[in-house]
Amino acid sequence: MSNRITALFNIKYPIIQGGMIWCSGWKLAAAVSNAGGLGVIGAGSMYPAVLEEHILKCKENTKHPFAVNLPMLYPAIEEHIATIIRLKVPIVFTSAGNPKIWTKHLKDHGIKVVHVVSSVKFALKAQEAGVDAIVAEGFEAGGHNGRDETTTLCLIPNIAKSIQVPFIAAGGIASGRGLLAALNLGADGVQMGSRFITSIESSAHINFKNKITSLNEGDTILTLKELTPVRLIKNEFFNHLDSAYQKGASEEDLQKLLGRGRAKKGMFEGDLVEGELEVGQISSLIDSILPVNEIIKEIIEEYHQAINEQNTPKYQF
Ligand SMILES: Cc1cc2nc3c(=O)[nH]c(=O)nc-3n(C[C@H](O)[C@H](O)[C@H](O)COP(=O)(O)O)c2cc1C
Repeated sequence: MSNRITALFNIKYPIIQGGMIWCSGWKLAAAVSNAGGLGVIGAGSMYPAVLEEHILKCKENTKHPFAVNLPMLYPAIEEHIATIIRLKVPIVFTSAGNPKIWTKHLKDHGIKVVHVVSSVKFALKAQEAGVDAIVAEGFEAGGHNGRDETTTLCLIPNIAKSIQVPFIAAGGIASGRGLLAALNLGADGVQMGSRFITSIESSAHINFKNKITSLNEGDTILTLKELTPVRLIKNEFFNHLDSAYQKGASEEDLQKLLGRGRAKKGMFEGDLVEGELEVGQISSLIDSILPVNEIIKEIIEEYHQAINEQNTPKYQF
């Protein structure tokens, strides 16, 4: 069976692995694509030569479609775009920027373009810019996030009734039941980030993966709204931020405290104390580190189980 998202990307399951700085290189992307989803290389933490290597390795390791995620704030974006076009990457997920700038150029080169948004307003802008699909990401999601704090549960039905292009729900989805719920609310597919950080194939440091499997509700928070809002684990680094806020820190103070390279330090080098550890609220549900094919198998099995349960309603009027 196919739907608008599986048909658009030519994949088996409507499951997309979100592009993630420091976590989603070729190994993760190829594994997800081989397991029937869509793997996405996170270009936001890669120098141009590194991205080229990851695209080539991904092509060597999967015959299936894959994508590259391009945060548009990336300083050398022209170089990334040129590499993507030269190496004939079939799909690009743009995020954190204006979809009008690059969509036409990419599409003129035969590339499918998906843009990540956090509200109906931005979804309409992306649709107007000519994207093939959008990702609508709610407040629960790990990583950089919208300012409006719209949860996925509210975002999906609003997007469903407002836009015509296919759309993928993201934020707080890590299971087969989550997939079914998102589809029931009107999405055509889901994007999962946090769930795939704790795959064997993700390039996240093992300390970070282990930390995620131990998290409980309330262990993450959306912060740094004055700079770029980000959901992260409340660790020592967050405590420094919190004290700075209590002392009335300015934007400049926050920027200074954040410094450079904290995300790499935390997520890639495994410094759980001073690093920035980006992950979503749904981490409280994640308790295992598994190979990607087992994660996808679990999701699909749970999805089928949940569908069967729908035949016996929990409540009847
Ligand atoms: C560690 C981490 C890094 C991320 N990096 C990016 C990124 O570079 N570009 C992007 O568009 N989204 C990024 N995201 C968002 C994911 O692609 C995805 O949309 C999000 O994780 C979905 O929510 P979930 O974490 O609840 O599954 C990141 C998320 C995490 C957890």
